Amino acid sequence: MNLPSKVKIVEVGPRDGLQNEKQVVPTEIKIELIERLAAAGLPVIEATSFVSPKWVPQMGDNTAVMQGIRRRPGTVYAALTPNLQGFDAAIQAGADEVAIFGAASESFSRKNINCSISESLKRFEPIVSAASALEIRVRGYVSCVVGCPYEGDIAPEQAASVARTLYDMGCYEVSLGDTIGVGNPASVSRMIEACARKIPVEHLAGHYHDTYGMAIANIYASLQLGMATFDSSIAGLGGCPYAKGASGNVATEDVVYLLSSLGIETGINLATLTAIGDWISRTINRPNGAKAGRAICAKNAE
Ligand code: HMG
Ligand code: MG
Repeated sequence: MNLPSKVKIVEVGPRDGLQNEKQVVPTEIKIELIERLAAAGLPVIEATSFVSPKWVPQMGDNTAVMQGIRRRPGTVYAALTPNLQGFDAAIQAGADEVAIFGAASESFSRKNINCSISESLKRFEPIVSAASALEIRVRGYVSCVVGCPYEGDIAPEQAASVARTLYDMGCYEVSLGDTIGVGNPASVSRMIEACARKIPVEHLAGHYHDTYGMAIANIYASLQLGMATFDSSIAGLGGCPYAKGASGNVATEDVVYLLSSLGIETGINLATLTAIGDWISRTINRPNGAKAGRAICAKNAE
């Protein structure tokens, strides 16, 4: 089997995870989480989002978080930016990289960012130009790449077409979001194959929520298709405020456990990661969603 020898993990727990916590997590806890994740070897950390605080109050301390982090040299601290207003604020606060986020489903686009897919793509263009002038890299997300909470199944070509537009616009990487975790290895493989016909697979990333417990299987299927970048969330934190019932991203601990068992390099220390997952779960009083994380903690306690 031809699996990649190295994988990049993009840690999205501080953003995708904490945006969905009912109580707003204190800024100093967010900062400590980000600093600990960087120390564990995570190369890219999506630290926060510069969205409207009326829509997502959990990310209302975006500037304080971005400015409060003690930066680790070499770590990329990224932020989600829906429009130019968010982009300007993210740059002002010191984001190294930004992400624009569209969807393969019209209904989800309206619920999430209050505009149609085509309006959103138009809105992203000035962000990409402004970023390019400042030599800031832009990542693109496509949500609902296999299924939508409002529209059901999404055609692989629809996901691929939005992904291609983001890539053509200048996104260096397009992250394919199974927002509600309804994908399985068959549907995710079909979707990746459609995207890889339009974008080289090395510029694609998998962003799988784990609602039906399929995320690890989906990552394994994606690796077999040559994908080598995955988004994950420490302790499986998260969900999505505009996708009811969606559970968190696949847990970073589980992904690192899988990859290390396959001999794939990530540069991440699993023992350190597991301790962070245990700490953040206790600190915000939530069950630890990482299966490998829980098993390693239990073994350590023997
Ligand atoms: P809107 O209401 O249509 O925006 O929201 P607007 O341009 O009409 O402005 C209305 C008000 O919002 C104004 O304030 C603006 O200043 C303010 P007012 O004059 O009323 O006082 N505003 C902002 N404030 C701060 N930062 C900004 C900003 N923009 C406008 N950037 C908007 C449109 C996109 C802003 C809104 O819908 C929004 O913030 N949506 C974000 C939703 C979100 O964060 N969703 C979760 C992240 S996406 C996700 O989780 C999926 C992903 O993980 C992949 C996957 O799993 O699929 C990435
Ligand atoms: Mg997500």
